[in-house]
Amino acid sequence: MEAIGHAETHAAAPSAGGRRAIVLVGFMGAGKSTTSRMLAAELGVEAVDSDRELERELGEPIEAFFDREGEAAFRAREEEVVLGLLETGQDRVVALGGGSLGSERVREALRRHLVVHLEVEPEEAWRRASNRARPLARDRVRFDQLHADRAAIYDASADATLPSGDRNLPRRALNAVTALRGSPPGARLVWASAASGEYPVFFGRGLVSAGFFHPAEARRFVVTDANVAAHHRVSGEATIEIPAGESEKTLARAEQVLRELARAGATRGDLVVAVGGGVVGDLSGFCAAVYQRGMRHAQVPTTLVAQVDSAFGGKTGVDLPEAKNYVGAYHQPSAVIVDPDTLHTLPAEEAAAGYAEVVKTALIAGGRLWAHVRAGGEPGDDAILGCLRTKLRIVAEDERDSGRRQVLNLGHTVGHAIEAATGYRRYRHGEAIGLGLLAALRLSDRDALRAEVAELLGARGLPQRFDGASADEVVALVQRDKKRVSDRVPFVLVEAPGEVTPGHDVDDAALRAAVEELAA
Ligand SMILES: NC(=O)c1ccc[n+]([C@@H]2O[C@H](COP(=O)([O-])OP(=O)(O)OC[C@H]3O[C@@H](n4cnc5c(N)ncnc54)[C@H](O)[C@@H]3O)[C@@H](O)[C@H]2O)c1
Repeated sequence: MEAIGHAETHAAAPSAGGRRAIVLVGFMGAGKSTTSRMLAAELGVEAVDSDRELERELGEPIEAFFDREGEAAFRAREEEVVLGLLETGQDRVVALGGGSLGSERVREALRRHLVVHLEVEPEEAWRRASNRARPLARDRVRFDQLHADRAAIYDASADATLPSGDRNLPRRALNAVTALRGSPPGARLVWASAASGEYPVFFGRGLVSAGFFHPAEARRFVVTDANVAAHHRVSGEATIEIPAGESEKTLARAEQVLRELARAGATRGDLVVAVGGGVVGDLSGFCAAVYQRGMRHAQVPTTLVAQVDSAFGGKTGVDLPEAKNYVGAYHQPSAVIVDPDTLHTLPAEEAAAGYAEVVKTALIAGGRLWAHVRAGGEPGDDAILGCLRTKLRIVAEDERDSGRRQVLNLGHTVGHAIEAATGYRRYRHGEAIGLGLLAALRLSDRDALRAEVAELLGARGLPQRFDGASADEVVALVQRDKKRVSDRVPFVLVEAPGEVTPGHDVDDAALRAAVEELAA
């Protein structure tokens, strides 16, 4: 289900400042030609279409040459024309034929340019391509296979990936795409969409230390915590520093931040920038949602939890002494800037806590992401990017938790109850989620998978049992969970990695047993 990103693949690309043309790649039917004309007009530069150039060279339609001479002869001529187009240093927008990235020389030449992958769903691509006599769009099964194979190739070459479904999106994303020209080498852009808003996600090593920021023109009011401020800085009009820790995610602390924003002269047109983990992100996002009835918000996540999960999706809020995350608002960020280099200063226990969220997300995604994570090892760029893209895709389907998004609560029902029962002090959020995952897998009757997950978590030193509260207290808190509907608590359960579904009723006795098994 999940296509893992390939940030490592082109991490050695030359400085982005040297990226010249904007080159659009993607499967047939993605709208590359139309988009190239639209973006070129916007930028006041020339639009070039490699298929049209090729037809000019061939002196006949591509279909005619392809059918007569065969695919190999066609690819050779295509390579020649495309390399010619990519050789010149002109600032222009080039639409590339969908198959030309099969050539290694073309992929190599693309490294000098700003490459944008326009995604297209197979259904839509087939609808657009099959009625235009395209040689490779005559057999649906072969077409779908080609789509899957090529998506990975486009993604590996792309600096920016834009989802399908909205022909005007590339125009709206153009500022963010061109911002990559000022980013450190290897940085990439992923586009996030949800019902209430869309935003660019920049991902790359060195973004924070290089001072990269987007949107660059906004006045920034930075919120951070004391631990993060000692290592990482994002410049701004003012910096509001709060003490670190979950116990600071309170209404009182939010009031302090709101008053400091007012004293510093922040207005609705400005940007609140969270630089830190999930606590700073949730708290400052909430402040941005309510300050003057709403101002823009950007996230610069510096923990693994925040980079794979909490910085995305627009859930903001604070805790009450009675329960976690009980006050809040949906407020999508305007941009998220993810720099995995900031994780170098993260204490080992915090990295381990974040690892529990990586395992959770990989269980939800299944496929390549799960294969990658179950192999063990440090979660690198591919795992982080794979997790954040999984989260973005789920939020795009269901922003407000009414259906699909509930799968992200895998492990959270019991996890939150353990956090609450131990006063939010005994366990880190991720540690509690790890325990919650073990309970959810037991309730799912997936013993082998539970053992495998326990091993992955154990290898990071994550707890396999909880203390500081009784099983009775935890079960009572599960019953009070805010996701409760009528008198039952719906659980997220796992059939297999990649097959995770919400809304399951679980038996009280089974719940008690799954919790008791975790009690020390
Ligand atoms: N909004 C969402 O969708 C969502 C999703 C998941 C979790 N959350 C929330 O996120 C919070 C947990 O987030 P977290 O685990 O990031 O906790 P956190 O923000 O408390 O950060 C953990 C610790 O690491 C420190 N730290 C952060 N970055 C650092 C760095 N680069 N170097 C050194 N120290 C650093 C912090 O000061 C803190 O002490 C919880 O409140 C949870 O409810 C929200």
